[in-house]
Amino acid sequence: MWGCRSAGVRLKLLGLLQPCWLRTRCRTRVVVNLQRFSTSLASSPRPPWRVLFLGTDQFAVESLKLLTSNRSSSKKIVENLEVVTLSDDVPVRRFAQQNQLPLHSWPPEDVDGRFDVGVVVSFGVLLPERLIKKFPHGILNVHPSLLPRWRGPAPVFHTILHGDTMTAVSIIQIRPHRFDVGPILNQELHQVSKNCTAEELGAALATKGAHLLIDTLSTLSERIANKREQGQIGATFAPKINASMSWILWEEQTCDQIDRLYRAIGSRIPLRTTWMDSTVKLMDFVGKCYISLSDQRTTVIPGSVSFQKESNTLAVCCKDGWVGFRTVVLKKRLTAVDFYNGYLHQTLQRNTPGQTAEGLFVSRKGRTEAHQMRDNSPM
Ligand SMILES: *[C@@H]1O[C@H](CO)[C@@H](O)[C@H](O)[C@H]1NC(C)=O
Ligand SMILES: *[C@@H]1O[C@H](CO)[C@@H](O)[C@H](O)[C@H]1NC(C)=O
Ligand SMILES: *[C@@H]1O[C@H](CO)[C@@H](O)[C@H](O)[C@H]1NC(C)=O
Repeated sequence: MWGCRSAGVRLKLLGLLQPCWLRTRCRTRVVVNLQRFSTSLASSPRPPWRVLFLGTDQFAVESLKLLTSNRSSSKKIVENLEVVTLSDDVPVRRFAQQNQLPLHSWPPEDVDGRFDVGVVVSFGVLLPERLIKKFPHGILNVHPSLLPRWRGPAPVFHTILHGDTMTAVSIIQIRPHRFDVGPILNQELHQVSKNCTAEELGAALATKGAHLLIDTLSTLSERIANKREQGQIGATFAPKINASMSWILWEEQTCDQIDRLYRAIGSRIPLRTTWMDSTVKLMDFVGKCYISLSDQRTTVIPGSVSFQKESNTLAVCCKDGWVGFRTVVLKKRLTAVDFYNGYLHQTLQRNTPGQTAEGLFVSRKGRTEAHQMRDNSPM
């Protein structure tokens, strides 16, 4: 294979080759080599590597970007780079096209003997064992969590949702049949900053992960020799996020939980509740509120809404306090003051003591919805 590569490079420099002729010739040589050295897949033990990259979304693009730019230095660790993506119009496909990287569709054909190592980042498809075996150094995965915590498709959402203060990026080797269970080659801790959203955390981990991937590839043989199996202790699963999580349960959820829910999903799926049988989307969350009630209600029950004039905020009572929103969508977008003047004001006036249902946001029970989301789907 080495012979084939250097011959290809030399001939290309001379400008003598048709690319398809080169490919045919290479394949023939590889077959011969594989037969001759059938006990081991002849691949260099050192970089630069021939890399096949599989990915889809913006999180994956960050890794692909660094691999792409690394090809052009004298100390490069990437020699050849080709890309597999799923058929849709996804960020990885656009990046590959803009940068003239050879593109394969899924499943890739013609992989035998052409790559040293694979890299898969947020691809969403289990790779079959027979494909993994075609890479002498295996297939690496960049996973944005402190594995074995948050295996599965939505680690960043769940990191925020559960209020983890520490996370990581992990570089693992892919195992067949199950997601995110392979041995850890490299792991770098990352402190989750206060108040950050899933988008912000995802972006920070994408950058960190890309650098950690390059670092891992530059010392790959040592990393593989020292790989660490994931234990079962502390293993958790991060299922896909779906829209049914966006219905707030005022009686059950605390200010903290609503805050985390908003930061986890709020920019993609608005938090929701019901108001007199209509769906209300709750936007522009401002966090926990400390309020003094100006109206005459004596008992405050979860779901109660209070308009805070000074801050132009709607405060809603939840399990352990009040949380504020600046905007709602009830058919159309309304600021807090518009909602108060147009809706809340009348219903509060109509209410007699002990009968406050019309001033209430009501939790919707039995929530089901099919809409599913992965962490890193286009942001
Ligand atoms: C490629 O990665 C290697 C190893 O980290 C590094 O030494 C080299 O400077 C990188 N080249 C570019 C162009 O980023
Ligand atoms: C987090 O947000 C709350 C309001 O939502 C704010 O009072 C607090 O200062 C913020 N903390 C940081 C560290 O940004
Ligand atoms: C949505 O997610 C919740 C929580 O993970 C889960 O219990 C529910 O089954 C999911 N619904 C659908 C339709 O996938």
